[in-house]
Amino acid sequence: MLTINNLSMQFGGRVLFKDVSVGFRKGECYGIIGANGAGKSTLLRIITGDLEPTGGSVSIGKGERLSFLRQDQNAFDSYEVVKTVLLGYKRLVEVMVEKDALYAKPDFDEKDGIKAGELEAEFAEMNGWTAESDAENLLNSLGIPESAFHKLMGELDAKLKVKVLLAQAIFGEPDILIMDEPTNNLDDHACRWLEDYLMDFPNTIIIVSHDRYFLNKVCTRTLDVDFTEIREYVGNYDFWYSASQLLLRQQKEQNAKKEDKILELKAFIARFSANASKSKQATSRKKALDKIDLDDLKPSSRKYPFIDFKSQYNIGNDVLKVTGVSKKGYFKDLSFNLVNTDKVAVIADNTLAITKLFNCLAGVDKFDSGTYKYGITIHFDYIPQNFTALNKIEDSLVDYLRPSAIVKTDSYIRGYLGRMLFSGDEALKQVKVLSGGEKVRLRFVQKMFDPGNLIILDDPTNHLDLESIESLNRALNNTKSVLMFSSHDRQLLQSSANRIIYIRKDGSYIDKCMPYDEFEEYLYNLNQTEKETT
Ligand SMILES: Nc1ncnc2c1ncn2[C@@H]1O[C@H](COP(=O)(O)OP(=O)(O)OP(=O)(O)O)[C@@H](O)[C@H]1O
Ligand SMILES: [Mg+2]
Repeated sequence: MLTINNLSMQFGGRVLFKDVSVGFRKGECYGIIGANGAGKSTLLRIITGDLEPTGGSVSIGKGERLSFLRQDQNAFDSYEVVKTVLLGYKRLVEVMVEKDALYAKPDFDEKDGIKAGELEAEFAEMNGWTAESDAENLLNSLGIPESAFHKLMGELDAKLKVKVLLAQAIFGEPDILIMDEPTNNLDDHACRWLEDYLMDFPNTIIIVSHDRYFLNKVCTRTLDVDFTEIREYVGNYDFWYSASQLLLRQQKEQNAKKEDKILELKAFIARFSANASKSKQATSRKKALDKIDLDDLKPSSRKYPFIDFKSQYNIGNDVLKVTGVSKKGYFKDLSFNLVNTDKVAVIADNTLAITKLFNCLAGVDKFDSGTYKYGITIHFDYIPQNFTALNKIEDSLVDYLRPSAIVKTDSYIRGYLGRMLFSGDEALKQVKVLSGGEKVRLRFVQKMFDPGNLIILDDPTNHLDLESIESLNRALNNTKSVLMFSSHDRQLLQSSANRIIYIRKDGSYIDKCMPYDEFEEYLYNLNQTEKETT
């Protein structure tokens, strides 16, 4: 069993946790939720030993193995795919290396022989002889083609990469499985596969995620990280959400009697556990819900950032004309003409094709052939998906933003940072320490000083918490700028796009002026007709 005892963590004056204790039991799946920057990844890094806490301790049962899927999906870029999976079982790889070194010794003696025997026994115990084929089977079941097994991780599309990292995390069935945002970049098929896998997983699981659907599917308990505390709820995300909404409303109704409030809560819990009866943990959950101490439930206090892309540049009729552009392996002979009311969602079978297209249009990369031309009134902004470059920047947020700000004073820049929830000392921390979601918010601030009249965004909702996604959604709906964006968030695609460009596996494309749901229907009918004619 894993326990954290009286854990405290602070960075400078910022306290993330104060005296937190939680026990993680076998057979349970814990969903860790909380706003961007609340301290979720930090908690996981403390549990896995990557980071020393300021106070308190973490203890793990003797001989228990822990594995970790990190939020940074580029950490293994220089390793081969199969090797990356094997590295999930660290001890196994260590034994392999030690064995090889021993057998390669020119003066192999009796002592070495004994050592080799011990290593061989340990190796067999860990199913070492079948490790490579086990890893390949795992990759297979996640839908990774054999042709990718010996490629470097850095050569893979984000969607494939995250699957390999998943395989790495679950390889050899660890006692404690820890995952930081596993569904980012994960396609539907692999998501369903992971849900099934986790629901049958016999050991302890700890997951950080902003994906509400996924959390509801797999979690048996919810841990809400909020203002230096971690509150444990029996049940999934929906239960946490409904309970905290109800509590918030009750808190506002100051005159209501305490007994009435308790009755209402009890009725709520009874209703909720009745609805939850389809899940496999239904019975135990119901029992646990009955025992909930009502005083333990507290409403959560989330904040919404204010995102706004209001451009000062008028926009003419010529926006962007793309003629017959190609990029080998991604798209061919792609042509489109943007008009000044367009809000284009670009979707693709291979999401790397979108990133290539956007990079070429932004001048970061080059098309193999074809031409493109922006209208003379166009000022464009590009918000790329990858922000690993920020990991090395030691400047404070204020200094980092200064070159992009229209007025260079601290107070002007801090005003913008405050809207994006970086207030007080937060504005002075180094860029490189920001959490995943905070880095995305920083990118938004940078573009909000003087937004272009054409904005290109590559999967901006990755890493964002629900409040930030809603704010972004509103900003994209309200802006008069022409948009071209990609997203795995269906809600965003549905509400913000009026035109869809779909790049298919074979590099061909479909371009339709219609909302996302209509496009899905169009595509479904198209696929049916294609099936009938073949
Ligand atoms: N070395 C450091 N020095 C100062 N502040 C830090 C340091 N490391 C992390 N932080 C801050 O601690 C907070 C928690 O970061 P963490 O990465 O744990 O957030 P998170 O809950 O995982 O957020 P997200 O949902 O965006 O991934 C952030 O505000 C971050 O800027
Ligand atoms: Mg995080």
